[in-house]
Amino acid sequence: MEERSVAIVLAAGRGSRMNSKVKKQFMELNDKPILYYSLKAFQDSPVDEVILVTDNEDMEFCQTELIDKYGFSKVTKMVQGGNERFRSVFAGLKVCSHCDYVLIHDSARPFVSQALIQDVLDEVRIHRAVLPAVPTKDTVKIVNAKGEVEETPARTSIYLAQTPQAFAMDEIMRANAKMMAKPIPGLKVTDDAMIVEHYGNCPVHVVMGDYDNIKVTTPGDMVVAMSILERRKF
Ligand code: CTP
Ligand code: MG
Repeated sequence: MEERSVAIVLAAGRGSRMNSKVKKQFMELNDKPILYYSLKAFQDSPVDEVILVTDNEDMEFCQTELIDKYGFSKVTKMVQGGNERFRSVFAGLKVCSHCDYVLIHDSARPFVSQALIQDVLDEVRIHRAVLPAVPTKDTVKIVNAKGEVEETPARTSIYLAQTPQAFAMDEIMRANAKMMAKPIPGLKVTDDAMIVEHYGNCPVHVVMGDYDNIKVTTPGDMVVAMSILERRKF
């Protein structure tokens, strides 16, 4: 049978660090909500289906102003997210029907490229857990609670994690189940690769991300996002 891949697009966050009235995934870049760009990227990609995780209160807007308006036919389901990112992911995973590979993407990364989606799709077939990441340009310091530098890790080994992260469905489901059954005390899960790192059965394979694939997080990121979009138009 054909292998099926599904993208879970996460848009259930509150965007608290953006400090805006409108949730950041609905803020506009060139007259289109940020979420538009992520949905468009997966619509144009080889994935078979897109599951949109969002708040109940935003579903009508997503349906009429995005899915219907732009013909995002790959979006087959909208599901209510949770109050933490990993809960939103789990809500999406639960409704993935017979799929072999899942790509999990932050809608707050509007500039995911077709090349990156293709790369993670190719690599997940080989490695079962794939993370796009870019080498840090800055030196990173590990700082303790007293505000003193504890350590300076070698820059060559520091990468910044991006999305879409891709997983074999059975691998991510098994790792998730293990986490739910016996969570590691004090471990705060901030991305999906972490779940496989701590509860999974295979190493997470890193593929080269893209410096343009930023996560729009704070107001300053909107300015950067605008300039990336401007550059792309030409
Ligand atoms: N997200 C989600 N459900 C949550 C938290 C986050 O679906 N409970 C999504 C966000 O919508 C975002 C992505 O996960 O697209 C990455 O999270 P982040 O950048 O942290 O967004 P927010 O949590 O919305 O922002 P903040 O942390 O500043 O509140
Ligand atoms: Mg958050």
